[in-house]
Amino acid sequence: MPEPKKTPLRYLSGVQSNGRLHLGNYFGAIQNHIRLQDLGECFYFIANYHSLTTLQNAAELRKYTLMAASDYLALGLDPAKALIFRQSDVPEVTELSWLLSTVTGMGLMERAHSYKDKIVRGISPSLGLFYYPALMAADILIYQSDKVPVGQDQVQHVEMCRDMAGYFNRTFQKDAFKLPEAVLSEAAKVVGLTGGKMSKSDEASVIPIFGEPAEIKKKVMSIVTDSKGVHEPKDPEQNVIYLLYKLVSSPEEAAQMEKGFRQGGMGYGDAKKLLIAKLEEVFGGERREKRKTMEEKPDMVEDILVASAHRARRTAAATMESVYEAVGIPRSKIKKAILNI
Ligand code: ADP
Ligand code: TRP
Repeated sequence: MPEPKKTPLRYLSGVQSNGRLHLGNYFGAIQNHIRLQDLGECFYFIANYHSLTTLQNAAELRKYTLMAASDYLALGLDPAKALIFRQSDVPEVTELSWLLSTVTGMGLMERAHSYKDKIVRGISPSLGLFYYPALMAADILIYQSDKVPVGQDQVQHVEMCRDMAGYFNRTFQKDAFKLPEAVLSEAAKVVGLTGGKMSKSDEASVIPIFGEPAEIKKKVMSIVTDSKGVHEPKDPEQNVIYLLYKLVSSPEEAAQMEKGFRQGGMGYGDAKKLLIAKLEEVFGGERREKRKTMEEKPDMVEDILVASAHRARRTAAATMESVYEAVGIPRSKIKKAILNI
């Protein structure tokens, strides 16, 4: 008997275009995204709608959106294997987020850590910031995603998405959505240069993946350390230099630095130089060249984004058909004609 054909898993993820992508984005998410392109059906997008909750400057938003797509391509995303598109090229996600919001209790939204953290940091919240998880849920559900590869900070949002899918399916008594699961990479929380999480919202915390060598050198050299001398033993696990070095080096190289810190003999200055050299080895050379080519050919990047968006939008349209049907909103003939579906 022939083996029943297995449907490939669908992986979906997004990254905001509110700044330059950094090592946290790479090791927490993008590296995994690229690896998965050989294992399943991959839908990746640049979350420019979400970025508007923190970046409200048209030229910058356009620039960072194109830059994020160029970063993915330079880092190895193959558009023949995986989709890479702009979130806003599938505007139906905003429509779906509204429908989800009508079945979602305030209590669930109020429990969102990332929202609460921002309030604690003194950011005056917009309605969009509060609503953020509903839009993210729509992003995931509209493509009937199975798995959502993200960093630790996004896991709660994926759980909220499962809750919203469940509320919707139960309220309208229809299996309109699959219940997706988060997938974590090994480096689910990459430390920033200032000791907390590396995040675009704190420029001092980031090492941009494709920063110029002189900038990266300056950033690494300015990591604040204690005053322990070269020969004193130090705790590597409390040490930003070592924690970042571990991500870019081989296990043997990392073990050597760890030993030097624990036993004494490894100074902070030397460790910083080793980190700078490794970063250049991993992200310089061929990758930086490819990144430059993308920058010189924005039309090529644009074409890739548009071609991917067409395919993503067709998938989204199929979900929306069943969603409209479930809630009782007639599908407008005008819309069908515009979308040509
Ligand atoms: P940022 O927090 O810098 O604005 P995003 O919110 O756009 O980054 O995150 C894009 C992806 O990168 C998400 O999957 C997120 O979990 C992951 N990510 C962001 N920062 C880190 C980090 N410091 N460590 C691990 N993963 C991260
Ligand atoms: N909120 C995510 C972040 O900041 C970005 C994002 C938007 C996303 N929509 C998504 C991630 C859907 C995964 C799935 O990292």
